[in-house]
Amino acid sequence: MTIKIPQIELSEVHKFYNQGQDNEVHALKEINLQVAEGEIVCLRGPSGSGKTTLLCLMGCVFGPSSGRAAVGGQQLQRMPDEYLTRYRRETIGFIFQHFNILPELSVEQNIVLPLLPLGISPKERQQRAEPLMERFGIEHRKLFKASQISGGELQRVAIARALINNPPIILADEPTAHLDSSRSNELMDHLVTLRRDGKTIVLTSHDPLVTEHPEVTRVIDIQDGRISCGGSICS
Ligand SMILES: Nc1ncnc2c1ncn2[C@@H]1O[C@H](COP(=O)(O)OP(=O)(O)OP(=O)(O)O)[C@@H](O)[C@H]1O
Ligand SMILES: [Mg+2]
Repeated sequence: MTIKIPQIELSEVHKFYNQGQDNEVHALKEINLQVAEGEIVCLRGPSGSGKTTLLCLMGCVFGPSSGRAAVGGQQLQRMPDEYLTRYRRETIGFIFQHFNILPELSVEQNIVLPLLPLGISPKERQQRAEPLMERFGIEHRKLFKASQISGGELQRVAIARALINNPPIILADEPTAHLDSSRSNELMDHLVTLRRDGKTIVLTSHDPLVTEHPEVTRVIDIQDGRISCGGSICS
C-alpha cells in the first residue's frame, strides 16, 4: 500500500470576512479536508458557496480565522502576513480565471513576473523561462506582446507562469469558465501532465469536462461554506 502524503490539511477551519463588523461573512465553516501529493482535486458548489475562499486559503492568500491549516507542511495560522506572502511565492502556482496576463508585456516578461519580487537576476529568470516556453510550445512567441498571441498560446503562458517558481502546488479558479471545449480539454491535458510530474492540483469548477475528467481524483462539494461531500483522502 502506498502512503499518501497530505500536501494540504485543513482541520476545523473557519474563515470570516470583516469579522466582528456589521458586514461579517462566515465564508467557510468547519472545513476538514486533506489533499494528497499528486492529486487533482476539484471544488464544486453554487455561486457564493465559498470555493474561491477555500482556494485562497489553500493558496496562502490568507490564513484561517480559526482552526488549523497546513499547506506544503507549514502551518498557516499565526503566520505573519509577510511570511505568508513569501511562502505563497515559493509554494503556490496560480492559474487565474482570465489568466491575468499583462497584454503590453512580452510572453517571456509575463512568465517571469512571479520571480521579480524574489530578486532573481535577469539571466536566471531567462534560464528558468526558456525550458518552460519550449515545453509549452511558445518559445517562438517569446518576444511577442501578450496581446498579439492566440487564446491557446495565452493559456499556455498562464500555465508556464504558474510553474516558473517550480511550486509543488498548482491552484486554478474556474480555469475553463471562458474556454470552448477544445481549449478546456487542452488545459486539462496540461494539468494531467503536471500531475504526472508530481504536482498537487486543486481547481474550482462546475464544468462536467473537469468534474467528470477521468484524471480528477476527487470532487469536493461545497454548500454554504461547508463541505458536503468528498473532504477526506480515502473517501
Ligand atoms: N473579500 C470579501 N469580503 C467580504 N465577503 C466576501 C469576500 N469575498 C467573498 N465574500 C463572500 O464570501 C462568500 C463566499 O464567496 P466565494 O467568492 O468564496 O464564493 P464562490 O463559491 O467562489 O462563488 P462563485 O462561484 O460566484 O465564484 C460569499 O457570500 C461572498 O459574498
Ligand atoms: Mg469563485
